[in-house]
Amino acid sequence: MTRVARLRAAGPRAILRALRPVRVDELLYGVGAHDTLPPSACSAHVDIARFDRQSLSGDAAVDRRLDGRRVCYVARVDGRVAHRSWLHLDTVLPSLFGFAAAPVVGDCATDPAFRGLHLYPHVLAHIVADVRARGMATEVHVLVSPDNVASIRGIERAGFRLLDRLRGVRVGPFVLRQPAPAGRAPSA
Ligand SMILES: CC(C)(COP(=O)(O)OP(=O)(O)OC[C@H]1O[C@@H](n2cnc3c(N)ncnc32)[C@H](O)[C@@H]1OP(=O)(O)O)[C@@H](O)C(=O)NCCC(=O)NCCS
Repeated sequence: MTRVARLRAAGPRAILRALRPVRVDELLYGVGAHDTLPPSACSAHVDIARFDRQSLSGDAAVDRRLDGRRVCYVARVDGRVAHRSWLHLDTVLPSLFGFAAAPVVGDCATDPAFRGLHLYPHVLAHIVADVRARGMATEVHVLVSPDNVASIRGIERAGFRLLDRLRGVRVGPFVLRQPAPAGRAPSA
């Protein structure tokens, strides 16, 4: 079902909600088809499992969010869930700023007990390899708040490059773009 069809089916309230102006300020990072990622610096032995609508995890918190548009990667250390990252297949924000459509990694979280082991960049690299191996896309994006220093360090350690700072106001399928502040423009 397309986004528009889903909105229609959800009714007028959902349409009005989708048309509410929303301020956007996100850093867009990407890995392209020809980018080579650095070797993992993860200091733990990690098992990563991939779950989608066809292969459920058995964890209700994960499974209720799995649909044709989302995939979840769960990293375990010594059998304990240490990190989860989601791959979103229908994120339109980068396209509204002129970037080619690509799967977007988001909703990433490392259990506080496992932070600082470089699990996050390890999982990001695994996701890129998986997307490539399945022929899903040539490019993978990550969106992150400019204030999220820990996440930005993990994303950059994984080998993602800063593509742009997406700033503006989004109203439904439209974006009023705001230029980057002077002196802070990213190297696109
Ligand atoms: C961002 C996050 C996923 C990073 O996970 P991680 O597996 O700890 O990643 P890394 O080990 O590579 O650490 C990344 C940075 O976190 C910081 N960090 C390290 N140890 C930490 C700890 N114990 N607690 C908090 N932050 C820590 C450091 O700045 C580190 O970078 P550095 O090693 O270059 O100094 C994790 O901090 C988290 O779950 N945060 C809350 C949710 C979130 O912000 N998600 C990202 C949304 S895009």
